[in-house]
Amino acid sequence: MLLNVLLLLSVACVSVHCNCGPCGPMPKHYEELRCVGQYIDGPCCHERYECPDLASFDTKFCHLNGKTYGKGEIASKEDSPPCSQNCICAEGGNGDLKFVCPIVECPEMFHDPEANCIHKYSLDQCCSVEKTCGAESQNLPQCYFRGEKYNYGEKFVPQSYYSACHHCVCDEHFDNSTNIEENKNCKKTDCGLQLRYLDKFKSGCVPIYFRDTKCCPVGFRCPSDKDQIIPVEGQPDISLAKPHSLCKFGSLTLQRGQRIATDEKCLQCSCRHPPMIECVRVEQCE
Ligand SMILES: *[C@@H]1O[C@H](CO)[C@@H](O)[C@H](O)[C@H]1NC(C)=O
Repeated sequence: MLLNVLLLLSVACVSVHCNCGPCGPMPKHYEELRCVGQYIDGPCCHERYECPDLASFDTKFCHLNGKTYGKGEIASKEDSPPCSQNCICAEGGNGDLKFVCPIVECPEMFHDPEANCIHKYSLDQCCSVEKTCGAESQNLPQCYFRGEKYNYGEKFVPQSYYSACHHCVCDEHFDNSTNIEENKNCKKTDCGLQLRYLDKFKSGCVPIYFRDTKCCPVGFRCPSDKDQIIPVEGQPDISLAKPHSLCKFGSLTLQRGQRIATDEKCLQCSCRHPPMIECVRVEQCE
């Protein structure tokens, strides 16, 4: 009996890797490029990602989530974030086809905010869907989530630590006792990285994230001839590293843990999850 229990326990441990701590989130660009997590050293967390071969994508077509579009075709609604609807496959500057997205102008963003009116947003539309004015707007419920207060109708991103790259809308149905992933008023954010920035990735550029947020990037960093690797003292020679544990950036090959010397203050670029390096913009830096 005891032996059976022990055996069961050890089987359970192997299948869930008892000694693994929590893993960080999958970097958003790997998620949206539909890359697949892989292990390098341990069985715990994905340390590298296997991505579709972007260089092999036919430039005479647009590509989005495994679908191919011809010139003039419009990206499917379900593959397009609410504020990037109706993007059309068209010729970019270099003759290659890419999606070009119309700029969405929500009336409430351009007109003077009307006094005493509250706009209500929804998870699947870019612009507000409802307006409440006058006395009625004074009595609308508010939402409280993880110590923050949000106004009725507001579309908000909870503080990064709790958001797991989700955004939410506050209304009378908001239930702050549910986990953000299960909250009906919240939705995982689609950054539209494939839709809007596939050409950047194809040119070898990498996204820049703000601080430790792994949600939508705030920009891109492209390789430059001036880039140099900052050597790490005591690190074994690169010839000893497993080939699939290396990052590529332009003409450079980095080992995990290595950084690029950037001329931009407060930008830190390093090889953490091959094959792409990751850049982070920090607020405070020396
Ligand atoms: C949940 O919402 C209620 C009011 O709707 C608020 O009193 C409470 O503090 C909120 N809980 C958390 C954990 O934010």
